[in-house]
Amino acid sequence: MLEHKITGGVHPVTAMKLHEVNLPLVVDDVMDKAGIDFQDLSAVATATQPGSALSLQAGLIFSKQLVAKHRLPFIPVHHMEAHALTVRSIEEVNFPFLVLLASGGHCLLCLAQNLGNYKILGQILDEPPGAVFDKVAREIVKYLPPEYCSTTSGGRIIEALAKKGDSLKHPFSIPLTGHTKTVRSRSCNFSFSGLQSQVLRKIAILRERNELDIVTCQDVAASFQKAAIQHITNQLHRGIIFCQIRNLSQPSPILVLSGGVAANSCLRESVLNICNKMNTKLICPPIHLCTDNGIMIAWAGMEYLKQGIGISEDPENVRYEPRSPLGDYIGNEIIKENIKLPKVKVSWKRHI
Ligand code: KG4
Ligand code: ZN
Repeated sequence: MLEHKITGGVHPVTAMKLHEVNLPLVVDDVMDKAGIDFQDLSAVATATQPGSALSLQAGLIFSKQLVAKHRLPFIPVHHMEAHALTVRSIEEVNFPFLVLLASGGHCLLCLAQNLGNYKILGQILDEPPGAVFDKVAREIVKYLPPEYCSTTSGGRIIEALAKKGDSLKHPFSIPLTGHTKTVRSRSCNFSFSGLQSQVLRKIAILRERNELDIVTCQDVAASFQKAAIQHITNQLHRGIIFCQIRNLSQPSPILVLSGGVAANSCLRESVLNICNKMNTKLICPPIHLCTDNGIMIAWAGMEYLKQGIGISEDPENVRYEPRSPLGDYIGNEIIKENIKLPKVKVSWKRHI
């Protein structure tokens, strides 16, 4: 959005105003294109948790007016649950299944056990991965030819650069590795701010030395991408092992990979490698369903409606919740298992 480009990122008040202006226009347009009327709808589903307070508020106020005016059932939806369930709109995926969600706003590894029933294996401790891809890209984009700047996604810029870079040139340390006696390195949690500091420091040094040419940027991007992906796949690997030890997965386990960062082909390849090793089926929904979208909220609403649950008895009094975990965090159980990761060979040279 041009407005967010001007404010240099998503500014909460600007986002809220854009929601207020655009929601009625988008809904009218969609109804028009579908050739249906509000009386044809079975219910209205809206994301009410978690997220930016002002944007949730704008969506909720608009939805309350809609359901009151057209006397429709109202289904409040958890944004992360919607991400987890979307895959079921395109193929048959039975509970329980694992979900790895990596985006600009989240990083989460969870076990979907049923509607409204999720166990959190790993969660983000600081900056989400997409936000760090964006920050690193912003630092190096000034040193690149204009063709790299034609996309607004920092992740895509890093991926394009990394394809031509040497990922072994700058060996950044992998987050949450270190000694297995430390609790953090036995968990499935995610942390990217330490890696971000390492990379930004390296860029600053290269800038001082006047060495930030295109080749150097490609090497930094490839080395950063390698460390970030290695971290994500390590935590996933531990999570899959834990589920197998505790018999939490199906006999033929399933992993759904989603979120904007899931567009990264190296991440997909690396996750597929782990899944193959662990006899786990990997499902990657198409990118337009991986990133934030309206279909996922509607689908989650439909899942609840079909089961006859989750319908609000008092829509007027539904509240939004900016912070709301998707389920119980069971990271302490994972730490107790003290899982040492078997070595997995990843052919990073192939990405040079
Ligand atoms: O899910 P999403 O569309 O929105 C939210 O953040 O909720 O994810 C957007 C994020 C951005 O931070 C973007 O840089 C990242 O996904 N992204 C990528 C790639 N494409 C998009 N990160 C790494 N590699 C990519 N190819
Ligand atoms: Zn999201």
